[in-house]
Amino acid sequence: QWTAEEKQLITGLWGRVSVEECGAEALARLLIVYPWTQRFFDNFGNLSSPTAILGNPKVRAHGKKVLTSFGEAIKNLDNLKGTYSKLSELHCDKLHVDPENFRLLGDILIIVLAAHFTKDFTPACQAAWQKLVGLVAHALARKYH
Ligand code: HEM
Repeated sequence: QWTAEEKQLITGLWGRVSVEECGAEALARLLIVYPWTQRFFDNFGNLSSPTAILGNPKVRAHGKKVLTSFGEAIKNLDNLKGTYSKLSELHCDKLHVDPENFRLLGDILIIVLAAHFTKDFTPACQAAWQKLVGLVAHALARKYH
């Protein structure tokens, strides 16, 4: 399902991504732009304003964890369902996260990458990443199917 070019566009950019920085920013933006997602993180402390969310160490740490998990996907592009089967169980069966939110986070990640890499995030690169975040969302939602 992947062309050699798509794989190259994904891994090439990934090698330059700071999971710490981009992960923190992606999760923070999710919580700011789609405030209802905050209810899953009510044990994360102060989420009362964009500034509080961006500076919240728990948000930063969890964002890094989430983006690190995308690294696993990138290592296993041909087996995303297997890679995310445990995480799908966690998010679906235990946390009951509406799968629509997986797609929202994927789109936010695209925006974060675009903001960081500007011209290097070409339309072809976006297309490959868009495909990746879509498949990750699908794999994570699998336990609902
Ligand atoms: C936990 C990945 C989306 C809510 C986690 C963990 C990972 C992860 C790796 C840690 C699991 C562990 O500690 O064993 C992802 C990925 C996503 C995603 C790759 C991509 C779309 C979401 C979304 C929400 C969410 C959209 C909610 C809006 C949570 C919560 C936890 C969690 C509440 C547990 C946090 C805690 O208390 O430690 N996720 N996640 N996740 N995720 Fe996600």
